[in-house]
Amino acid sequence: MKILVIGGAGYIGSHVARYFADRGHSIDVADNLSTGSEINLFPDYGFFKGDILDYPWLLEVMKQGGYDALVHLAAAKAAGESMLKPEKYSLQNLAGTINIINAAAEAGIRNIVFSSSAAIYGEPKYLPIDELHPCEPENYYGFTKLKIEEILRWFDKLKGMKFAALRYFNAAGYDPAGVVHGLEKNPANLIPVIMEVAAGMRPELGVFGTDYPTRDGSGVRDYIHVTDLAIAHLKALEYLVEKKESIAVNLGSEQGLSVLEILERARSITGKPIPAVITGRRPGDPATLIASSAKAKELLGWEARYSDIDTLLTTTWNAYQRSMEEKA
Ligand code: UD1
Repeated sequence: MKILVIGGAGYIGSHVARYFADRGHSIDVADNLSTGSEINLFPDYGFFKGDILDYPWLLEVMKQGGYDALVHLAAAKAAGESMLKPEKYSLQNLAGTINIINAAAEAGIRNIVFSSSAAIYGEPKYLPIDELHPCEPENYYGFTKLKIEEILRWFDKLKGMKFAALRYFNAAGYDPAGVVHGLEKNPANLIPVIMEVAAGMRPELGVFGTDYPTRDGSGVRDYIHVTDLAIAHLKALEYLVEKKESIAVNLGSEQGLSVLEILERARSITGKPIPAVITGRRPGDPATLIASSAKAKELLGWEARYSDIDTLLTTTWNAYQRSMEEKA
């Protein structure tokens, strides 16, 4: 298939693009390189540099390509920041995605794989969280993802556009083969922050609370390896093409890991002390988030294979070490 990957130079997009290309698909990447990096653009891709807020550019890219599908992963994703700067999320995540959907409709692209998020559910009412869980986002980032899912549902009804909304839990890890290794700029998520401390790029980790009702008091999350996500994107696209039916599915490992468990294992894997201080809770952080991925298993035949703690941490540390060597 010929596929346009919007946000294909970014952290998750770069893994998705490489995985698709390695399985014989023809890949074009569209990216403004604001958070993505050029090192993720491989010579076998076509590349279009531009911004999804530029509608004429977007339409031109989509029209010239004769694409069978597009994967949209171009978004801002810091839940905390979205509460302080909702305008940024309105523009990039809402307006930008509306441009993509409108341009796809105009260019006749009928299959869209969309990066949604577990943040659409809000504070868990029960665990594990399945797709029937109420959607009551607690941050503006989650709200933007939920609204886009609703717009996609309308475009399916009105225009016959098929979509897969993939509700990621906590994306983590790097390509186990080490081919994709462009680091995320200014990360705010737990595992890259830990790696930056291990690599000497930050002085210490702040542990956001050890008074949660969890096994060790720190926050528990469902970390899903980016390679598992990439595999799910291809399976979801194949499902759309074959069944001509839109879907919304969770993508998680169904395992919970705590902040302190990850910290301790990272110390042992990296061999670095990784200083940490316990700070207060971060506003809006639930104690525990764990996915049920039963629907993805049933519909897509997908389940996590790379999302154990050692693979998550080792692949990330390898990417950081490589980047340190390249800088040296
Ligand atoms: C959030 C979103 C998720 C989004 C992801 C991407 C929610 C509920 N979740 O995940 O949908 O896809 O961001 O950015 O909005 N922690 C520390 N110290 C740190 C960083 C994090 O202790 O320096 C802790 C957090 O309190 C949390 C865990 O580590 O318990 C994971 O945090 P993080 O990596 O930021 O992801 P989420 O907030 O879970």
